[in-house]
Amino acid sequence: TSLSSVVQRNSSFSRLNSDDIDFFRSILGEKNVVQDEDRLLDANTDWLRKFRGSSKLLLQPRSTEEVSQILKYCSSRDLPVVPQGGNTGLVGGSVPVFDEVIINLGLMNGIISFDKVSGILVCEAGGILENLSSFLDNQGFIMPLDLGAKGSCQIGGNVSTNAGGLRLVRYGSLHGSVLGLEVVLADGSVLDMLGTLRKDNTGYDLKHLFIGSEGTLGIITKISILTPPKLPATNVAFLGCKDYSSCQELLVDAKRKLGEILSAFEFLDNMSMDLVLNHLEGTRNPLPPTMHNFYVLIETTGTDESYDKEKLEAFLLRSMEGGLISDGVLAQDINQISSFWQIREGIPEALMKAGAVYKYDLSLPVEKMYDLVEAMRTRLGNSAKVIGYGHLGDGNLHLNISTPQYDDAVLAQIEPFVYEWTSNHRGSISAEHGLGLMKANKIFYSKSPEIVQIMGSIKKLLDPRGILNPYKVLPHSLGS
Ligand code: FAD
Ligand code: MLT
Ligand code: ZN
Repeated sequence: TSLSSVVQRNSSFSRLNSDDIDFFRSILGEKNVVQDEDRLLDANTDWLRKFRGSSKLLLQPRSTEEVSQILKYCSSRDLPVVPQGGNTGLVGGSVPVFDEVIINLGLMNGIISFDKVSGILVCEAGGILENLSSFLDNQGFIMPLDLGAKGSCQIGGNVSTNAGGLRLVRYGSLHGSVLGLEVVLADGSVLDMLGTLRKDNTGYDLKHLFIGSEGTLGIITKISILTPPKLPATNVAFLGCKDYSSCQELLVDAKRKLGEILSAFEFLDNMSMDLVLNHLEGTRNPLPPTMHNFYVLIETTGTDESYDKEKLEAFLLRSMEGGLISDGVLAQDINQISSFWQIREGIPEALMKAGAVYKYDLSLPVEKMYDLVEAMRTRLGNSAKVIGYGHLGDGNLHLNISTPQYDDAVLAQIEPFVYEWTSNHRGSISAEHGLGLMKANKIFYSKSPEIVQIMGSIKKLLDPRGILNPYKVLPHSLGS
């Protein structure tokens, strides 16, 4: 892509040689030192098929000790590395830019302990989110986060990107629910911050540095996370709204009227709906036959089936009478619940099937959010489909532009406009996906030079040779 072509390979890094391979085999065994071309192609290519590295080596450690030995060796040899989880990241952070060694955590997927009294789960970083959810389900608990990539993404990847997702409106960000981490630094030293306490004010809380640092400061090997109890009553409503301001008013009302049982508030526009219906087999609009301009998915989770349902039904009735909702349907069973969710969660996949996608993930004041989608439509005219969806309850817009194929002229219409617009409204150019390679040089739209300088100093302190996920997150002017 034109993005990686603007980055230069750091000339202080070594090239991999056969002694290196021998060393890795001696610690990991033959099988976990992968040089197979097909597997490397997969590991070099990101989910969006937009970023592709040329790594010749994929390592699969089985323990913290092995991660430590790998990093200690790579530091001594100046060999750059990319930590990799499920490779579902959307900003080009999880794949090499050049020949960095890929370290995939997938074999480190054990559950270390689960405390049914506190709900605290301690596990290895390579556990797949959906598997952890299933494990907890049997214990009567849930993960505090959920996202469309649950079947592939790893909890270590989630923590490293500080993933938000579909439940953040209820359970908050990972900065709140992650209680502890074990991290291996670039020189191989192991930081044991694997606390399982709700409260611990003994000095600087360093684990927060690693939450959302996208593998640039250390490799996360273990996680301690607070999990909420699984509540018996879940209800999902799929609603049609005539305009964006109705969606916004509905959100304000939902927070007030549904209160503690509100567990998701997602929105999509009719072009997102069209895309899903056209590209994902087996989907249908829950509200036929009229097309609405906007759709809202509201989920409630609580302790009392009939009370929760009554509360939601009363809320929907009032909103319908007040004109905020034009039409709506309440899921009658678990299958309907999942078919409603499939529409919302299927948007990224539908976009991939539709062709090329320019993906933006922005935090903006809710009242301004959709103005950007409209401004972008005006700019691009008929040359592209501009769609808006996202986590309305969190002020997080996913602005996506879909074209049959990539076109630099379209990109020039989108950027820097989208970043300037966001910055002018004091938004964030990355609400939840991170900066990765895609937005490393854009950090100044959301952070001041003083802050970025301090980030650079922290990077130097923890990774003085810059071997951990180079060219990502920090601007290339800082030598990242
Ligand atoms: P990867 O993609 O492998 O890596 C992501 C970053 O973390 C990279 O920089 C990598 O170097 C680093 N990393 C990975 N593991 C480690 C580790 N153990 N230690 C240190 N660094 C590590 N994101 C949201 O926030 N909300 C959503 O709702 C959401 N939905 C998504 C839906 C789909 C269909 C897809 C494809 C993606 C979605 N994402 C979402 C993007 C999100 O960033 C990822 O899905 C997820 O958090 C990344 O996990 P992963 O294991 O795939 O990490
Ligand atoms: C989502 O909310 O669907 C994800 O963040 C993925 C995306 O933005 O496409
Ligand atoms: Zn999202």
